[in-house]
Amino acid sequence: MKKIQIINGPNLNLLGKREPTVYGNASFEDYLSELRARFPQCEISYYQSNVEGEIINKIHEVGFEYDGIVLNAGAYTHTSIALHDAIKAVTTPVVEVHISNVHARESFRHVSMISAACRGVILGFGLDSYRLAIESFM
Ligand code: DQA
Repeated sequence: MKKIQIINGPNLNLLGKREPTVYGNASFEDYLSELRARFPQCEISYYQSNVEGEIINKIHEVGFEYDGIVLNAGAYTHTSIALHDAIKAVTTPVVEVHISNVHARESFRHVSMISAACRGVILGFGLDSYRLAIESFM
């Protein structure tokens, strides 16, 4: 059974309530049930934190054991060299995901501090970005 860790960063606990025109109406918990049903061959763990250091701790915790990490680092994507270093420090491959197409938004979202440390990047497909990221580990 493949072990996949999904990590959501700041403000993503508010999915379903937060800017629904950008991020949609579904809560992540509802979507997670769909994902688990779709990938019965995977053990999908989920973690969300608004705190940068806690996200780094989770990457360290699973990053030598799991088969893949799907990371939506939220706004830390655009600022965090510490997250870049954490992704490089572990052996588990990390796929960066974004719900929105960050390149079609404000210019400060066009830069990612973490992409270069990740195996790949999937963005702009709504919540389906997470499914596509998991497919990449199959
Ligand atoms: C996001 C895009 C980021 O720019 C933003 O700060 C988020 C969500 C996305 O999933 O589209 O919090 O990562």
